[in-house]
Amino acid sequence: MTKFDFSKRDSFGSKIGVIAAAAGSAIGLGNIWRFPYITGENGGAAFLMVYLGLIIFIGIPLMLSEFVIGRRAQRNPYGAFQILKKGQPWYLVGLMGIAGAFLILAFYSTIAGWTLEYLYRSITNGFSGKSPAELSTMFSDFQAGGLWPVMWQVIFMFLTAWIIYRGVRNGIEKYAKILMPLLLLIIIAICIRSVTLEGAGDGLRFLFKPDFSKITSSAILEALGQAFFSLSIGMGTLITYGSYISKKDNLSNTAISVTAADTLISILAGIAIFPAVFAFNINPAEGPALVFITLPGIFEQMAGGYVWSLLFFLLLIIAALTSTISMLEVVVAFLSEELNLSRKQSTIIAALLITILGVFCTLSQGPLDSPFLFGTNLFGVMEYASINLLLPIGGFFIVIFVGWFLGKKNVRDEISNHGTLKAQVFGLFMILVRILAPIAIAMVFLYQLGILG
Ligand code: TRP
Repeated sequence: MTKFDFSKRDSFGSKIGVIAAAAGSAIGLGNIWRFPYITGENGGAAFLMVYLGLIIFIGIPLMLSEFVIGRRAQRNPYGAFQILKKGQPWYLVGLMGIAGAFLILAFYSTIAGWTLEYLYRSITNGFSGKSPAELSTMFSDFQAGGLWPVMWQVIFMFLTAWIIYRGVRNGIEKYAKILMPLLLLIIIAICIRSVTLEGAGDGLRFLFKPDFSKITSSAILEALGQAFFSLSIGMGTLITYGSYISKKDNLSNTAISVTAADTLISILAGIAIFPAVFAFNINPAEGPALVFITLPGIFEQMAGGYVWSLLFFLLLIIAALTSTISMLEVVVAFLSEELNLSRKQSTIIAALLITILGVFCTLSQGPLDSPFLFGTNLFGVMEYASINLLLPIGGFFIVIFVGWFLGKKNVRDEISNHGTLKAQVFGLFMILVRILAPIAIAMVFLYQLGILG
């Protein structure tokens, strides 16, 4: 077995490549599938305001913290904590991140598989003439069948593994640079169509005119979970990507650009979806089925619906793919650097194991749907546990580590590129990661467990 040669470690080739790859990780089903329905369920504009506040005061500092850890250590999350704090149990935070990537990708690839099926149905005009009730039956029949959801999931994992096998620069960066601009174009086209529908105004008011009486403590919790999930923070994905960022890049600007891009796409997804939802009298609080049941119904009633539906599901696939590669990379970087497996072996092993677990998740939404824990099926348990438990716990320890343990001078060196950049808001950053972010995350977490409130 050959030892991993760290002098030949792959990296991103350009500033734009870094932003495309990290924004590609952040922008995903979280923005286009999850953000609209969570916003819909929590009352719209007021929820959006809370979400934006959390993104700025917790999201950006946590993302920057991950970049700082990754670039300083030049390792996967486990190795990074080992190098930065030898002999201390911090490596457990890294291991938790790798386990988190494994679990999230397992259930995420279930939904990613559905997007392939829905693109296929768009191409073959499968929604044509169907009533909302028929579309809903179509969705549950598809899941209940079991075979096709699994097939599509395997295909999606295969695509993901293929890009990862090609490496950081020739795989992740290259594909992100092509796919992300395409995604932006498609979503803008759909937004234009949506806001020019008759009756679109109600949807825009729902999204942008806040009614603060709708803010409840559970809405705030949902907003934080969504912020972490959407920005890909809290489990080392961005530690891994940070480790491939050049020593010359400006980490704070990268974190701000990636966050801005992610937030822009979520808002655009809202603009694409809510006007259409209101124009066609659909309940905005429809839940997870919003994009799979509601949208095909809306496309059905729109002129040129065939093309819009095709574009929309293509958009979802692209968004999902640049996110699934970021999760697989975490596991592959760990296997190749720590267990000295080749990139090819690591990719095959990681993808295979994740797919096996993923298949059970998919089946638990269909033929094997039975309570796994607390009356929830396997998919539900994994989604809940990873988003609401692993991400906040991971995020908490990451900000604490950077705030209190990495050493103020080291953090400043990394953020200012050893004094060559002005680190203007360094003081504010330290206050956020030392005090504000940990307290906020801890409170949210304790609420979730029902210990507070
Ligand atoms: N952010 C992605 C999305 O919005 C999902 C994702 C990718 C993710 N990598 C992650 C979520 C790491 C949490 C942690 O769809």
